[in-house]
Amino acid sequence: MNKTTTILAIESSCDETSAGICRDGKILSNRIATQKVHEQYGGVVPELASRAHIQNIVPVVELALQEAGVTLSDIDAVAFTKAPGLIGSLLVGSQFAKSLALALNKPLLAIHHMQAHVLANLIDDPKPAFPFLCLTVSGGHTQIVLCESTSQMKVIGETIDDAAGEAFDKAAKLLGLPYPGGPLIDKYAKEGDPLKFNFAEPRIQGLDFSFSGVKTSILYFLQNAGKSHMYKPELLATEEEKNKFIQDNLADLCASIQHRIVSILMSKLKKAAIETGIRHICIAGGVSANSGLRTALQEAGKKHGWKTYIPDFQYCTDNAGMIAITAYYKYLAGDFDTLSVETTARAEW
Ligand code: KG4
Ligand code: ZN
Repeated sequence: MNKTTTILAIESSCDETSAGICRDGKILSNRIATQKVHEQYGGVVPELASRAHIQNIVPVVELALQEAGVTLSDIDAVAFTKAPGLIGSLLVGSQFAKSLALALNKPLLAIHHMQAHVLANLIDDPKPAFPFLCLTVSGGHTQIVLCESTSQMKVIGETIDDAAGEAFDKAAKLLGLPYPGGPLIDKYAKEGDPLKFNFAEPRIQGLDFSFSGVKTSILYFLQNAGKSHMYKPELLATEEEKNKFIQDNLADLCASIQHRIVSILMSKLKKAAIETGIRHICIAGGVSANSGLRTALQEAGKKHGWKTYIPDFQYCTDNAGMIAITAYYKYLAGDFDTLSVETTARAEW
């Protein structure tokens, strides 16, 4: 009988502590412990994230092993996220994974978080064929990646300011919605008119993105209670008028904001598909859970003859399943890391 390959993967780059098991390219478990502690602060507090990872990591790994029906003695390699992310958070996962690999005397696989978001598209069938394009949209990143193989990827476009998730979350904050507001905008948008309000479209050349103009346009529009998108002191509404305007128009505001963010993403993705001639198109990252983006991708696929791919919801936001699948291909290539491999906050590939 052929030997199977079983990998334990850890993801701890931001505020989710996650562990997953992959056997021969199939994800057997993907457990995620979401840290609720940050909600009251309106964003992730790095110190609290590190402390929560330390509390969560052992139980999450135990749950992942249990769900997959494997024990530590079945593990052939240990994988972890090496970059990018919050350094304190990354170090909890990396030190845990290194200690475990040392104790089990098994190889170590250090994985780049953004590459893993892209390869989340290889978890389930049907899988995209190489080369494919992936629009990776998360709270910290917005990139178009040209993926030639499981190890050869090139960023051909990225944001010059905010990430798409950040744009959603900042807009939500302006609307008075709690953090992270992206999923809430998505929820309220379902009841609203996407064309009711018009927010600024960036004029940026090439395949790069910009979201700061949209953010400013939303800010002024709300401050003026819908009378103008420009900074006009004479139109400034009182706090009460502003809140009433938001309350009366919440669904339309959410739908219009979502429509603009999605249209910015889709127009660059279309441009990338035309320039490269690639027709297998994927999305990945937390914002790929957005229903407006998912629908827009499917519609564009039908219109332009693309084959489109979206990971299952659980593999869109930060998760160890995507680290495990990336580690599996790295394992097959024999591309192991030593215990001295560095963990870094920076995003360089
Ligand atoms: O990939 P991810 O879980 O973490 C990072 O690596 O950043 O992405 C989190 C981001 C947050 O900004 C969150 O608001 C956004 O993804 N997000 C959404 C939705 N679900 C998550 N944004 C819009 N619509 C959604 N349904
Ligand atoms: Zn991520």
